[in-house]
Formats: sequence, C-alpha cells, structure tokens
Amino acid sequence: MMLHIPEVLTKAQVAEIRAAIDAAPWVDGNQTSGAQAALAKRNAQLPEGSPAAAAAGGRILDALSANPLFVAAALPQIVFPPLFNRYAGGESFGMHVDNAIRQSRDGAVRIRTDLSATLFLTEPAEYEGGELVVEDTFGAHEVKLPAGDMILYPASSLHRVTPVTRGARVSSFFWIQSLVRSDEQRSLLFQMDLAIQQLSGRVGAGAPELVSLTGAYHNLLRMWAEL
Ligand code: NI
Repeated sequence: MMLHIPEVLTKAQVAEIRAAIDAAPWVDGNQTSGAQAALAKRNAQLPEGSPAAAAAGGRILDALSANPLFVAAALPQIVFPPLFNRYAGGESFGMHVDNAIRQSRDGAVRIRTDLSATLFLTEPAEYEGGELVVEDTFGAHEVKLPAGDMILYPASSLHRVTPVTRGARVSSFFWIQSLVRSDEQRSLLFQMDLAIQQLSGRVGAGAPELVSLTGAYHNLLRMWAEL
C-alpha cells in the first residue's frame, strides 16, 4: 500500500528544519547505500548521526508519533532515525530496492525495513524533476508532494528518483519496522480501522456492532503482531 500523509509538518516546522539542516555540512550520499544502490545514486546527504540530522530527525519522530494516520497505517514498532538528502544539478537515484536490514551508524538501532518513507522539505515549484517513482503491480507511480507531506510505501518496492534539472529537492527519508510485517495484513487492518472510525462518527462509539468490529480489529492485530 502506498499512502500520502498530508501535513506531517507545518510550513513553519519545515522552515525551521530547513534553516537548521541547510546550514550544516553535507556529504556524498553514497555513505548510506548498499553496494548495488551506490552505483545508481547521485545526491548529497547530511552525515548520519550528525548533530543537525539528530536534532531535525527528533522533531520528525515527535511529529510522526502524534500523527494518527501514520500510526494507523504503519503500525510502527521502530522508526529509523530520519536521514536527509538533497538532489540538484541533474542528480538522481536510479531504480533500486532498499536494504532489508538497516543499522544506525552507532549500532543503537537495527530494523527490518517493512516500509519506506519520504518526507518532502521543498515545495514542488522550487525544483524541476525529482519525482519519486515507485513501481508496484499496478504500474509506476510518480510522487511529488508539498513541503511537510509524506509518502509511505512498501520497502520491498522498486523505486527511483528522477533527475533534478532545476533548483534543489531536499527531503527526509527513513524506514519503519512495523508490528505487522506483511503489507497485505497491515493494509487490511488499516482499511478496517478507517471504516470503524468513520462508522463511529455516524452511529456512536458505543453501538454493539461497533464494539464487536473493534474487538475483531484488535484480535486480528493480536494474531498478526510481532513484538
Ligand atoms: Ni531507496
């Protein structure tokens, strides 16, 4: 499942994060790639674990934990400390799949990457190109979102970033280990959760049918969750 999560950050938060990270030193993006991905990758990145990345990443993690749509869709167990990249001057990232296991530089976090996330930190009008293209069984999906919005997609997908031919594209990217490993099971739970919430607005949360459906949701989650 691919999901657009709007307004993870406010425009003011985006501006503050941009001011902090733009002033910090950047390095070649291949510091975080696997060997195969490195062949395809051309961009710049904030050094993983640098003070600027840690501070900005912390603000993003706080925003994510307070975002009901993210929590319902990702059922997050561990969110990898957010990283930051910048594409400019024709830079791009060719087709690849993200590494299945990701460990932070200091070894403190090691996760199975169930979901990939890109949080856009530049407005679409500020740059040309730079679409995130994600392939699934329904074809190729081009994604370019307003600053502060995020796309969540299965980490198992083939994806690429098209060349940025004008301006610069700055984003945060990271991975999530979900409580529910299977994308199919997680998508069903999300669909059910949304329907329960909508129904609850119409019939009242105490309706016996709704209590029963909510029970079924939790019992499915109990069956599928891995802690
Ligand atoms: Ni990737």
